[in-house]
Amino acid sequence: MEFELKKLPYAYDALEPYYDKETLEIHHGKHHAGYVKGLNNATKKLAEARETGDFSLIKHWERESAFHGAGHFFHEMFWESMQPGKEDNKASGDLLEAIEKWFGSWDKFVAQFKAATAAVEGSGWGVLAKCPQGSLHIFAVENHQKSFPPGLRPILLCDVWEHAYYKKWGPDRVSWIESFWKIINWDKVAKRYEKVKTA
Ligand SMILES: [Fe+2]
Repeated sequence: MEFELKKLPYAYDALEPYYDKETLEIHHGKHHAGYVKGLNNATKKLAEARETGDFSLIKHWERESAFHGAGHFFHEMFWESMQPGKEDNKASGDLLEAIEKWFGSWDKFVAQFKAATAAVEGSGWGVLAKCPQGSLHIFAVENHQKSFPPGLRPILLCDVWEHAYYKKWGPDRVSWIESFWKIINWDKVAKRYEKVKTA
């Protein structure tokens, strides 16, 4: 099975001025494409190892598979987590109620999500996810696959790898997160929440 790089659900310039065309083009066309390529390669190498019975590089290819696989999966969710922006962007309905229940208020949730995402050590993601027990939590995930407890169902992701923002914002990760907040597709996040709510 070959994994593929899907087209974005909007044009490269659709998220301007909050997310610039050039960064988005490179992010999707080079970086996400690299994860797809890496995942396909690791998948092929693992199949070869099963065929030949030579598992001497198993640690390496399992790590490659986890890294590129998680990168591919997160980026697919990330692209669909965004839409053309607006200043007063906010969740609504059941999702807003759940956020208020688990975080105390909308403002407290926003403050925690932004702080956790800004504080990710090195490359990583800010993630809002539903836990197997039913509650919503925010996680600072390193790379794509570390500090990510099993069983989580992510519903919102903010990419804070340097490739996501450095071209426009340089080391100012906080400004990227502020900008990202304006382009979150809350309808999509709400649909994901509905899907995992009772799972
Ligand atoms: Fe990325």
